[in-house]
Amino acid sequence: MEKIEFLDLGQQPITNNFLSNEAPQNEFLYNLRVGYDQATSLVSLMEFIPPIKMFNENYAHRASQSQTMRKAYKELSDNLKKKFKPKSILEIGSNDGVFLKNFNNIINVGVEPCKNLAKITNKIGIKTYSEFWNYNLSNKIINEIGLFDIVYSANTVSHIHDLEDALYSISNILNKNGIFILEDPSLLETLKKVSYDQFYDEHAYVFSIYSLNKIIKDIDLEIFYVEKLNTHGGSNRVYFKKKFGNQKVSNNIDRMISEEKELGINKFETYLDFSKKIKNSKKNLKNLFNIIKDKNKKIIGYGATYKSSTVLNYCKIDKNYIEYFIDTTPNKQGKFTPGTHIPIIDPKDGMNETVDFAFLGAWNFRKEIMNKEIKFIDRGGKFITHVPNPRIL
Ligand code: TMP
Repeated sequence: MEKIEFLDLGQQPITNNFLSNEAPQNEFLYNLRVGYDQATSLVSLMEFIPPIKMFNENYAHRASQSQTMRKAYKELSDNLKKKFKPKSILEIGSNDGVFLKNFNNIINVGVEPCKNLAKITNKIGIKTYSEFWNYNLSNKIINEIGLFDIVYSANTVSHIHDLEDALYSISNILNKNGIFILEDPSLLETLKKVSYDQFYDEHAYVFSIYSLNKIIKDIDLEIFYVEKLNTHGGSNRVYFKKKFGNQKVSNNIDRMISEEKELGINKFETYLDFSKKIKNSKKNLKNLFNIIKDKNKKIIGYGATYKSSTVLNYCKIDKNYIEYFIDTTPNKQGKFTPGTHIPIIDPKDGMNETVDFAFLGAWNFRKEIMNKEIKFIDRGGKFITHVPNPRIL
């Protein structure tokens, strides 16, 4: 693969590395650069971060802490059971079991390299392999358990550096008529929303349907259906079958690919233009913060997401701009944002009448948050977002 760089987001920390100390010694930083591969139109980080630095026993994200996600996974599980009647399901990146829990009456197996998370699911009776997904592991699971009717993987395949091996290993573990469902942020939505915060250490790739189709050319997988989702600021749920599998291929794939091509997803110039928009976004966001600060108004951050780490570090927004972040995740509270060292506190302590502006780190939950914070809005409190362009809401 030959990548050409189109974007430099500067020095960045590990987004998941929430700090216990405001002034850490030797915080790991790297240069976050993004590139485009001419042959496959795949967009990826120029330099991958060693997985063990990101996915370890300190991994903070707990999927089941979000009510929205719990509900979404329950609905998806009900639909999959009804439609495909699986007898076995494997999830790659099973986190705390928020999805697999819904399949207790069939063979349900997890793969989760973060040991703290695998411990949770093993405890509730979901056999979980705490290892990185690869060909060897797929063979080990085939020997111990067998082949699977469904392989599901949300927000994980885009994290795996050896993409072809990951997909080949999935095809390896599927039954003849088995299906693989991949869910990851959409490149089309990233371009449309100028949501450059989809780029961070974990997201080695941001996929388009066009590029996925190219990557699987020599693998026994074929896309048969695609759904657009609102999760994580716009994702695709892509259904794959084996080439001789019995599922019918929908014509919505051609439609999706045409839409992507219309936006120029397969042309390098599109990314140069995207890069210009990102530089402008930085300038405008910084201006907006400076105008508000000049008026002596108090700004806080709302949702210390991984995504927001890219924005804060790229735009150099630190404690001088954002007094603190509020976040509902208990294991982020009492810590500091990576790179920018902004304190993170419980919303109960931080969302009070002294707050004038709240920067939406969790912009992907904008509706849910604005519905919840009616009191703040009614008393004149304002939200700031950078998506699709920096502005006060
Ligand atoms: P995610 O986009 O990776 O799911 O992360 C969302 C983060 O935002 C998570 O740390 C929880 C936080 N959050 C809040 O603090 N308050 C909220 O109302 C919502 C929706 C999210």
